[in-house]
Amino acid sequence: MDNTVVIDHPLIQHKLTYIRDKNTGTKEFRELVREVGTLMAFETTRNLPLQEKEIETPLGPTRCHVVSGKKLGVVPILRAGLGMVEGIVGLIPGARVGHIGLYRDPETLEPVEYYCKLPSDLEQRDLIVIDPMLATGGSAAAAIEIIKKKGGKRVSLLVLLAAPEGIERVHRNFPEVTIFTAAIDEKLNEKGYIVPGLGDAGDRLYGTR
Ligand code: PRP
Ligand code: URA
Repeated sequence: MDNTVVIDHPLIQHKLTYIRDKNTGTKEFRELVREVGTLMAFETTRNLPLQEKEIETPLGPTRCHVVSGKKLGVVPILRAGLGMVEGIVGLIPGARVGHIGLYRDPETLEPVEYYCKLPSDLEQRDLIVIDPMLATGGSAAAAIEIIKKKGGKRVSLLVLLAAPEGIERVHRNFPEVTIFTAAIDEKLNEKGYIVPGLGDAGDRLYGTR
């Protein structure tokens, strides 16, 4: 699918299998989601620009590279997106973190906004919206819309699992947004859950039901 990157690194696929497994408990689920967040951030930041830096090794001076001062922002969609934040900002400590609170109405499956706090210099940042699940795509599309309305310009989306319907919806509204995912699953069921998926990401992360 255009502008969609499936990050199929063996370590990610291995961990994803245990994340999907219904016998994986809350503690291990949370650890695995955090770890996969780190591994996926590694891949989504592959094209970060570098700049030269002169340093001295114990053997003498040399010119090396460091990541140039590009400003990044990470925007988890509450609640489940929080599960991936620590894994990502551990790798990119300079990133600012915004939060968008959305829940899916169980009847209409449409997102309802309940919280929004974003970095003030949004337009200067490369923004990564994060959420483990891209199901109907309503939540991700709403989050991107909120960010764009507040001045965000360069946005990408990082999810663990995507349904074809979600990818289609995000790209219908925002064709320029690159979607990074660890897998594209088969379909949605009648309740809007990804099949085979992993169940309810928020409930599995936080032990609620
Ligand atoms: C889940 C998930 C996404 C959304 C995906 O959140 O974390 O945000 O559903 O579904 P969609 O693509 O059809 O919008 P949920 O609404 O269950 O809230 P939670 O994170 O607080 O559990
Ligand atoms: N939200 C989830 O947590 N899981 C799904 O499969 C779909 C939406």
